[in-house]
Amino acid sequence: MSAPASESHVIRFRMFGGPEVLEHTTIRLPAPGPDEAQIRHTAIGLNFIDTYHRDGLYPLELPSGLGSEAAGVVQAVGARVTTCKPGDRVAYAGGPVGSYAEYRNYPAERLVPVPENVSDEQAAAVMLKGLTAWYLLRRSYVVQPGDSILLYAAAGGVGSIASQWAHALGARVIGIVSTEEKAALARSQGCDHIIMADHGDIAGAVRGLTGGAGVAAVYDSVGKDTFFTSLDCLRPHGTMVSFGNSSGAVEPFSPAELAKRHSLYVTRPILFDFVATREELLAASEKLFGRIADGSIRVRVAQSYALRDAALAHRDLEARRTTGSTVLVPR
Ligand SMILES: NC(=O)c1ccc[n+]([C@@H]2O[C@H](COP(=O)([O-])OP(=O)(O)OC[C@H]3O[C@@H](n4cnc5c(N)ncnc54)[C@H](OP(=O)(O)O)[C@@H]3O)[C@@H](O)[C@H]2O)c1
Repeated sequence: MSAPASESHVIRFRMFGGPEVLEHTTIRLPAPGPDEAQIRHTAIGLNFIDTYHRDGLYPLELPSGLGSEAAGVVQAVGARVTTCKPGDRVAYAGGPVGSYAEYRNYPAERLVPVPENVSDEQAAAVMLKGLTAWYLLRRSYVVQPGDSILLYAAAGGVGSIASQWAHALGARVIGIVSTEEKAALARSQGCDHIIMADHGDIAGAVRGLTGGAGVAAVYDSVGKDTFFTSLDCLRPHGTMVSFGNSSGAVEPFSPAELAKRHSLYVTRPILFDFVATREELLAASEKLFGRIADGSIRVRVAQSYALRDAALAHRDLEARRTTGSTVLVPR
């Protein structure tokens, strides 16, 4: 068995704020606890939720590490661990936060084996965003062949995977993006139609594309700026899946808003609730890796930064400069 590492380069922060609060430092690392595995990270996934943790929208106890997704190799395991062994390639998505690290200890039962056909960088790029795409399309609203759906940030991390998956399910995907470059990318990833984010009448454009009917579901990750427009895009009994806050948190609203738009449904899901048990986690991961293996989803790592440049990666993500998935690499 390899000896556990006793220290690790990590990103930590002591106060909530902008990207400048992120510090690259070295910490002492204890041996893994009885139910933990120590992982040597080879690639770390960057996610918008990391910015909510950093700026305090989702408060953490400070000082804190950051990050909820990574892939790597098991370095050592605690005494009770039976689900993995040193040398295994693994990946994970979800808390506790702290994936912005060279090494870390993590609950072994939350680790998923990475198949041979998936590289470490791809695994770190796809675990959190791909499992999210899975539950959005297969649980929050179960997409049927022929359904029209509306997807915000279609060229982003979750959006790039969700548009490919929805296309494979036979949906007619309307994507929203902010630039022509992102529009071309979204089209190449399965979007049948594109509406620009600055279009003055998104609901009108959606009605135009759906013969006046509206879409079966809206997958809205933008939040505050788009919530009511999204409701206006739905068909009667349609489902609003509000799953992110890229523009800020949605403000409280009256249920009457749903009645007057013809008996809509609204859900505000989070990934963990769909993969809470190890069985659910493994089953969902199998679906995701199966989609990669059969070619329905191509995983593109569009940006890669050194771990120590995490602040720069945050700036680019928040300024809408990234497309697809981004990874941080300890080096
Ligand atoms: N609830 C869950 O379980 C769950 C899980 C994973 C992710 N999420 C959410 O899904 C969303 C996407 O996450 P991601 O990591 O894949 O990020 P991402 O989509 O790669 O990046 C965010 C994208 O949102 C769009 N956007 C629209 N308004 C924005 C604004 N005011 N500021 C910044 N971006 C804006 C931009 O695309 P355009 O420039 O094309 O508009 C931007 O590229 C986030 O809101 C995240 O919180 C939720």
